[in-house]
Amino acid sequence: MSVKFHLVTLFPEFFESPMEVSLVGKAIDEGTIEIEFHNPRSHGAGVHRQVDDAPFGGGAGMVMAPGPLAETLDPLATTYRVLLTPSGAPLSQDHLDRFACIDELTLVCGRYEGIDQRIVDNFIDEEVSLGDFVLLGGEVAAAAIIEGVARLLPGVVGNPESTVNESFRGDGLLEEPHYTRPSEFRGWAVPEVLLSGDHKRIAAWRREQRLERTRKRRPDLIPE
Ligand code: ADE
Repeated sequence: MSVKFHLVTLFPEFFESPMEVSLVGKAIDEGTIEIEFHNPRSHGAGVHRQVDDAPFGGGAGMVMAPGPLAETLDPLATTYRVLLTPSGAPLSQDHLDRFACIDELTLVCGRYEGIDQRIVDNFIDEEVSLGDFVLLGGEVAAAAIIEGVARLLPGVVGNPESTVNESFRGDGLLEEPHYTRPSEFRGWAVPEVLLSGDHKRIAAWRREQRLERTRKRRPDLIPE
């Protein structure tokens, strides 16, 4: 299983370090993921290779013009094309599970106030947002998707179980707190139950912790 990402971005250099370090770098080295950059600037208009223009109807900011984007996206028509935009559906683990099964995934990073709607209507399969806040562009969201997909692919994460028993999987609750040695650190003790060796009590404690955290922080995730 592997995924080829096509990144449509005006700022390919943004991805240099995040794609080199950690397990994402390893996944690229091992061919589990592949990344190809496509810069709409190379299809920009005039000597300045302009890619944006003022919005019809007036208003603040600039809009990414359809021409350079269409020319960038024409050869990517057979891939699954995702636009990163604050107007998209909020990114979830379900998206990542789905994207990890796609051979070629195109991530289109918007900039400026947005992109011409005719591009969205005719070239984009799905719109995704990183959350209910506005960034300068889609690059951070694209990097999040690449990392989230990479860790689901075979061989990227050492212990595959760690991608199964985690928040947003299994019982759908947030994860319980974790502790490791030493059992006392700067006077702060590890909860006694975790040292008891009583697996039934430990499992019950962990579930209670998951429920309590979820009730407090994400009541929307508690099953009816
Ligand atoms: N571009 C700007 N803000 C964004 C967001 N919240 N998610 C995805 N792309 C974006």
